[in-house]
Amino acid sequence: MKIAIGADHGGFEHKEAIKKHLTERGFECKDFGTFSSEGTDYNDYAILVAKSVSSHEFDRGILICGTGVGMSIMANKVRGIRAALVHDLFTAEATRLHNDSNVLTMGARVIDIELAIKIADVWVDTEFSNEERHIRRISKIDHYKGE
Ligand code: RB5
Repeated sequence: MKIAIGADHGGFEHKEAIKKHLTERGFECKDFGTFSSEGTDYNDYAILVAKSVSSHEFDRGILICGTGVGMSIMANKVRGIRAALVHDLFTAEATRLHNDSNVLTMGARVIDIELAIKIADVWVDTEFSNEERHIRRISKIDHYKGE
């Protein structure tokens, strides 16, 4: 599995730890930045990571900012992206089983690095359920044009 990862300054330290952990587990991780704790805009990294997933260059994306909210709002603007904001292990599994989320967002000011790594592990290890009702619901997301 190829994983694109990104963060703003608020998520920089969490990103570094998650990247190291997933790389040690054998995943191919590409770091789209940011590369320091200097102030920056979450939007730019959300778009880079989301586009790399929507284009199928990468299988999944992980984005971390202070709350995870800005990253999820921005990533969900990209066609084909289902970004899930997750701060617990139950939701990490459920959003893969039910939503086939292809981007995980987390808030570094909400959860510590240890929990963020556990969430990332559950999220990358859980496959979509492929159940008909979930396929139907995802299709409704994909086909909604917005107004
Ligand atoms: C940056 O201060 C902060 O606003 C950002 O990391 C994120 O929480 C936005 O949603």
